[in-house]
Amino acid sequence: MPSPGCCRSVAALPGCPHRLASEVCPCLHVIEKNVDPETMLLPYLRKKLQLTGTKYGCGGGGCGACTVMISRYNPITKRIRHYPANACLLPICSLHGAAVTTVEGVGSTKARIHPVQERVAKCHGTQCGFCTPGMVMSIYTLLRNHPEPTLDQLTDALGGNLCRCTGYRPIIDACKTFCKTSGCCQSKENGVCCLDQGINELPEFEEGNKTSPKLFSEEEFLPLDPTQELIFPPELMIMAEKQPQRTRVFLTLKELLEAKENPQAPIVMGNTSVGPEVRFKGAFHPVIISLNECIEELSVVNHADDGLTLGAGLSLAQVKEILAEVIQKLPEEKTQTYHALLKHLGTLAGCQIRNMASLGGHIVSRHLDSDLNPLLAVGNCTLNLLSKEGERQIPLNEQFLTKCPSADLKPGEILVSVNIPYSRKWEFVSAFRQAQRQQNALAIVNSGMRVFFGEGGGIIRELSIAYGGVGPTTICAKNSCQKLIGRPWNEEMLDAACRLILDEVSLPGWAPGGKVEFKRTLLISFFFKFYLKVSQILKTMDPVRYPGLADKYESALEDLHSRNHWGTSKYQDVDPKQLPQDPIGRPIMHLSGIKHTTGEAIYCDDMPVLDGELFLAFVTSSRAHAEIVSIDLSEALSLPGVVDIVTEEDLRGVNSFCLLIEPEKLLETQEVSCVGQLVCAVVADSEVQAKQAAKKVKIVYQDLEPVILTIEEAIRHHSFFQGERKLEYGNVDEAFKVVDQILEGEIHMGGQEHFYMETQSMLAVPKGEDQEMDVYVSSQFPKYIQDIVAATLKVPANKIMCHVKRVGGAFGGKVTKTGIMAAITAFAANKHGRPVRCILERGEDMLITGGRHPYLGKYKAGFMNDGRILALDVEHYCNGGSTLDESLFVLETGVLKVDNAYKFPNLRCQGWACKTNLPSNTALRGFGFPQSGLITENCITEVAAKCGLSPEKVRMMNMYKEIDQTPYKQEIDATNLIQCWKECMAMSSYSLRKVAVEKFNSENYWKKKGLAMVPLKFPVGFGSTAACQAAALVHIYLDGSVLVTHGGIEMGQGVHTKMIQVASRELRMPMSNVHLRGTSTETVPNANVSGASLVADLNGLAVKDACQTLLKRLEPIISKNPKGTWKDWVRINSVSSRGYETHMNWETGEGHPFEYFVFGAACSEVEIDCLTGAHKNIRTDIVMDIGHSINPALDVGQIEGAFIQGMGLYTIEELKYSPQGVLYTRGPDQYKIPAVSDVPTELHVSFLPPSQNSNTLYSSKGLGEPGVFLGCSVFFAIHDAVRAARQERGLLGPLKLDSPLTPEKIRMACEDKFTKMIPRDEPGSYVPWNIPV
Ligand SMILES: Cc1cc2nc3c(=O)[nH]c(=O)nc-3n(C[C@H](O)[C@H](O)[C@H](O)COP(=O)(O)OP(=O)(O)OC[C@H]3O[C@@H](n4cnc5c(N)ncnc54)[C@H](O)[C@@H]3O)c2cc1C
Ligand code: FES
Ligand code: FES
Repeated sequence: MPSPGCCRSVAALPGCPHRLASEVCPCLHVIEKNVDPETMLLPYLRKKLQLTGTKYGCGGGGCGACTVMISRYNPITKRIRHYPANACLLPICSLHGAAVTTVEGVGSTKARIHPVQERVAKCHGTQCGFCTPGMVMSIYTLLRNHPEPTLDQLTDALGGNLCRCTGYRPIIDACKTFCKTSGCCQSKENGVCCLDQGINELPEFEEGNKTSPKLFSEEEFLPLDPTQELIFPPELMIMAEKQPQRTRVFLTLKELLEAKENPQAPIVMGNTSVGPEVRFKGAFHPVIISLNECIEELSVVNHADDGLTLGAGLSLAQVKEILAEVIQKLPEEKTQTYHALLKHLGTLAGCQIRNMASLGGHIVSRHLDSDLNPLLAVGNCTLNLLSKEGERQIPLNEQFLTKCPSADLKPGEILVSVNIPYSRKWEFVSAFRQAQRQQNALAIVNSGMRVFFGEGGGIIRELSIAYGGVGPTTICAKNSCQKLIGRPWNEEMLDAACRLILDEVSLPGWAPGGKVEFKRTLLISFFFKFYLKVSQILKTMDPVRYPGLADKYESALEDLHSRNHWGTSKYQDVDPKQLPQDPIGRPIMHLSGIKHTTGEAIYCDDMPVLDGELFLAFVTSSRAHAEIVSIDLSEALSLPGVVDIVTEEDLRGVNSFCLLIEPEKLLETQEVSCVGQLVCAVVADSEVQAKQAAKKVKIVYQDLEPVILTIEEAIRHHSFFQGERKLEYGNVDEAFKVVDQILEGEIHMGGQEHFYMETQSMLAVPKGEDQEMDVYVSSQFPKYIQDIVAATLKVPANKIMCHVKRVGGAFGGKVTKTGIMAAITAFAANKHGRPVRCILERGEDMLITGGRHPYLGKYKAGFMNDGRILALDVEHYCNGGSTLDESLFVLETGVLKVDNAYKFPNLRCQGWACKTNLPSNTALRGFGFPQSGLITENCITEVAAKCGLSPEKVRMMNMYKEIDQTPYKQEIDATNLIQCWKECMAMSSYSLRKVAVEKFNSENYWKKKGLAMVPLKFPVGFGSTAACQAAALVHIYLDGSVLVTHGGIEMGQGVHTKMIQVASRELRMPMSNVHLRGTSTETVPNANVSGASLVADLNGLAVKDACQTLLKRLEPIISKNPKGTWKDWVRINSVSSRGYETHMNWETGEGHPFEYFVFGAACSEVEIDCLTGAHKNIRTDIVMDIGHSINPALDVGQIEGAFIQGMGLYTIEELKYSPQGVLYTRGPDQYKIPAVSDVPTELHVSFLPPSQNSNTLYSSKGLGEPGVFLGCSVFFAIHDAVRAARQERGLLGPLKLDSPLTPEKIRMACEDKFTKMIPRDEPGSYVPWNIPV
C-alpha cells in the first residue's frame, strides 16, 4: 500500500506542491494540501469533514448510498456538467476544481428543505432511511439537468440506488410529482394512456377505480424552482479558466504522456475498475495518474465520412448521449453499431457509474463481462494510441482483447480515442445480454454480432460474433464465423452455426462463475435471436426473396413488457366522527422522514469520533472445518497503530454466551467450523490500520473431515441439531389408503442475505468509573447486547447501557451475531479504557453474519381427483450452519405454519435443523414461513397439475372456511381469508386475465405469460407469553411536553411514529407535543427483541397503558381545572407493561402459539423470455386484512417492501458457495436484491375493510413480515409460464422448479432444440465452481 503523500500520487509534475481545491456543499471551500491518493471522497466527507449524510453501503459502487453530485466547469465548452457519482470510488485527488454537492448542501431542516427532500419524505419514500440521502442525490442531480424529467429518465436515474425497505414504489411516486404528466405511464399505446386502459386491454378492476383517500397531498408540496439552486462556485470557474501555475494538473496531452512514461502508473479515469481492484482484490499501484476531464483530445467527438471518433476520456453517460443524438440524425443503415451500443449502455451499471466510467477505461480494462467490448470488436473499431514516440492505430480485435502483447498498448502509450465506423447497407449489428437482474448487474453472458451480406444476395460476406462472460476476457468465435462465410442465411446455416459456436466457445464444467449449461445455451440462443432479427429485416427489405418468420416466432425479438410503473393503494379512511387531531388511522409521515432525506438522521457510525477512539477489525477463518495449528500475530502486532489483538486467550472464562438454547462461542482459536468464523480481533488507532493488520495475522490450519455444506450431505451424515419438531393432526397413514392419488415431490429453496443497507455497527464507550459502559449499536435487541456485554465484562447488567437511536435496516440480522461482535468490541474497550468502534464492511458482513435458512422440503400428498387434499406428510430440512443460533425456532415456526391457508384434515409435518459447515444462519423476515409456505404451495401446484385443474381452483377448494381449527388446535376464523381471496380475484380481474394469458401464450412461441394467485394466513405471535411482553415509559414534563420511550427498535417500520400516534390519541394532545429520543436499556429494561411483526402491537399496548395510567392519576386534577393546559396538570410519569398470552406444547402438539392471524392474497402476472430466462413482473395485486390500520402509509410501506423482498428471495437473490464452503456472493455486484427496474409495472395494494374488533392495539395487526411470502406469487406465475412453454413443446411430465427461480432455471426449464444441442458434463467428472447448499 503506498504511504500517503502527494509526491507519489502525481508523479507527473515533480516538484510542485500538491493542492486539491474543490467546493463541497454550498459553502465549504476545501483546499487539501496533502492528498492521500488512496483516500476516497466518502471517508473524507464522513470522517474528515463530518458530513455524515452520505452513507457507506458497499464501498464498490454497487448500492448508491454514497451518491453525491459532482459539478465541473469546462473552460473550453464553457459549460457546467452536473452528474451523480459514487463517493466511495471517487479519489479525492480526482476532484481538483470540482464542486461536490452532498445531501447536506441540497437542503436541511436548519435552513430550508429542498422539494426533493420534502416529497420523498411526504410520499413515504423512506423507511429505515439509510438509502435515502443517496436516492435524494440521484433525483436532485437529475432535476438539475432536467427539471421536468420523463418517467424513463427518473427510473434510469434511480437504477444505481438500492433500497431494501420500501420496494421503491413510494420513491417513484415522489419522483413522479416532478414529471409534467405525473401519474401517467407516458407511453400512450394506441393513443390511450395506461391509466385509461386495463392491462391486456381488459377493463380495469372495479374496486381499484373507486377513490380511496390519498397517502399524501401534492397540493402542499414546495414548488421546484431551478433558479433557487446553488450556483457553481465562481472561484472554481475562474480557476478552471486560468489554472494556477503551481498545481499538479494535467492540462495538455504532452504533460500526460510525460507522466505515462512510468510504466507502472495506471491512468485513473473513473476509477470504477482500478478502485474495486485496489479495494477488494488487493491490487497495488505505487503510482497512479489521476485525470479529470480537462484534456481536450480525450474528449473529442468527431464525425468523419467513415464513422465517429470518440475521445477515450468521455464518460459512458456522455457516450450514450452522443450516440442517442447521432442515431436521430443519420439513416438507420449507418447506425447499426450505435444502436447496439446504446442498448447496452441503457443497462450497463447505474447512472453514477456510467457518469464516472470512461470509454477508454472500459476498453482498456478488458473485463471478461464488458458489455461494450464485444460490440466494439464486431463493429471493426480502431483505437488511436499516442506515446512520446508518436501516434499509431490498432484494431480493437480479439488479439487486443486477449491482451496479446503484439496487439496491446505499449508501456507509455495511452488511448486517445476510438473510431467506431458507420455500418453499411446490408450490414446488421445486434447486442444481447442476460444478467441476474434486468439493470445494474453484470451480464452472465453478453454478445455482439454483426453480419454483412453485400448488395442483395443474402449470402454471408462477413460475420463477427463476440461473447462476454464465457472466458477470462471477451471471446470471439472467429473460426465459426470464417466457416459460415459464403453460406445463405437460412435454417441450415443456423443449425451449422450453433454447432460451430458450441464447439469453438467451449466452457468446461468447472468454469468460474458456474451456470455453465445456461451459458452454453445462451451462446446459441443469442445467435438464434440474431438469426431471427436479421431474417425479419431481410424480409422487410426484400419480402419476395426472404419470406421471413411465422408470427408466432416474432415474439423472440420483442423486449419484455416494460411500461412505466404505476400503482394504487386502497385503504379505508378514518371514521368521519373521529376527532381531527386524533392521528390514529391516518397516513402520517415517518417521524424521521425529513431527517432521512436531509441526511440529518444519525446512525451508529455517524456519531463523531471520540477522543482516543480505537477501531476493531475481525480476523475470520478461511476454512470450513479445520483445526487451528498456530496463529502468528507478530507481524500484525508490529504494524504502526496496532494496539492489541483480542484472542480466545483474553476471553478465558467469558468466551461463550447462551442466548437461547445452546451457548455460542465468541472467538474460536482451536477448531473452526465454517469460513467466516471469528478467530481474533485487531484493535488499532484507525480503521485502515486495523484492517491492514488483520490481513497480516497468519493462521495455519489442519483441515478436518467431514466438511458438510449441503442439506443432502447433512442428511447423509445425520448431522442435525438436537430437537426434531413434529406436528400431527388426524390420521395421515389411514387417509393415504382412501385417496384417489398420491404424489411425492420435493423442492429446494436457497437462503437469503439480509442486505440491510447499514452494515453491522457498534461503538463501546467506557465511562471511566464504576465499570460503567455505554454501547451504541445497530441492534434489534438492546437487552441481549446489555446481557452479553455484562457477562463478558463480568459486571452486572446495571453497569452496561445499550442505546439504539435507529437502525438502517435489520430484518432479523441484527440480533445474535451483533451481540457477539458487540461483546468483543466492549471487551476491547474495557481492556484499554478507550472507546472502540467496529463497523463491518459489506463483504465481511455478508460473510460472517449468515442469513435466511436454505430449505429442502419433501412432501407426500394424498388427494382426490377433484383436487381435495386429504392427507399431507411433509418433511422440512433447514440448513442451520455451524451453530444453533435461532435455527430451532425458525424450524418450529416453519412446522407450525406449514398449513398456510389450508385445512388439511390429516397432516404430519416433521422438521430437522441440519448442522453444517456454513456460517450460522439466523432470523430473517418471515422466520421460516416463506420457506414452509413455498413448500406447501409447490405441493398444491403439483396436485393441481395432476388433477388437470388450475392451482387457484385447488387452493380455493382446500382453504380454511369460516370457523375451524389449526393443526395445533387453535381456533381460527377464516372469514377474512376467503374475503381477501375473493377481493383479490375481483381486483386483479383474474378470470379475464387468465384467458388473456392463455391467448397470448397460444400466439407466442418464445415468450410466455404466467398468472398465479396465492393466499396467506400469517399467524402472529412468539409462541410464549414471556416473549410477547413489552414495556413503555411515558414522561410528562412540567411544561406539558411528553417524552415516550418504549422497548421497540426503529428499524424502518415506523414504530416510533406509531407510538407517538398512540400517545397523541390517548393523551389527547397533538403529535408535535410528544417526543421520542430512541431506545435504551436505561429507560426501558428487559425489553424483548424487536421482530416477528409484533413491535408496534406490543409496545403500542404498553404506551397506551402508560398513557391511560397517567390520565387516570391526573383525572382528579384535570376535573378540577378542565380548561387548564397540560402544563397546569402534570407532575407525574408512568411505566407500563402489556402483552399477549401465547404458548405451545410440543409434547402434545397443541397450543395457542399465536395471538391472531393476518390474512391476505396476492395475484401476479409475469412474462418470460424462453430463450434467455429473463422475466418481467407485469402486475401484482395484493389484498390484506390488517384490521384497523394505525397508519395506512406505514402499513402499505411494510406490505410493499416485504413483497419486493420476497420477490427477490424467490426469483433473483442467489447465494453462491464454493465446494470448500466459501461464500462468493459478498456484495451488491455479485448478490442481486431487487432494484427499481424489478418493481412490478403495476402494483395495487388494498386493505380489507376492518370487520372485527380484537384485543390488539386499536384492533390493528402486525404487518412487518407477512408480505414476504406473497412474493411467491411471482414464483408461481413464472412456474405457470414455464409450464405453458413446456406444454407447447410436448413436455407434459412433472415440472420441478427450485427457488430462487433465476434466469438460469427459467431458461433451462424451457427445454427446446438449443438446450438439447449443448454438451452436458458427466456428473462427478469435474469439480463445479459452486454448489447449491
Ligand atoms: C458497480 C459497477 C457496475 C458495473 N457494471 C458494469 C456493467 O453492467 N457492464 C459493464 O460492461 N461494465 C460494468 N462495470 C465496469 C465498468 O464499465 C468499468 O469499470 C469502467 O468502464 C472502467 O472505466 P474507468 O474510467 O472507471 O476506468 P479506470 O478504473 O479509471 O481505469 C481502468 C483501466 O484503464 C486504464 N485506462 C483508462 N483510461 C486510459 C487511457 N486513456 N489510456 C490508457 N489506459 C487507460 C487505466 O490505466 C486502468 O488500467 C461496472 C463497474 C462497477 C464499479
Ligand atoms: S457505498 Fe458507494 S455505491 Fe455503495
Ligand atoms: S429505506 Fe431504503 S434501505 Fe431502508
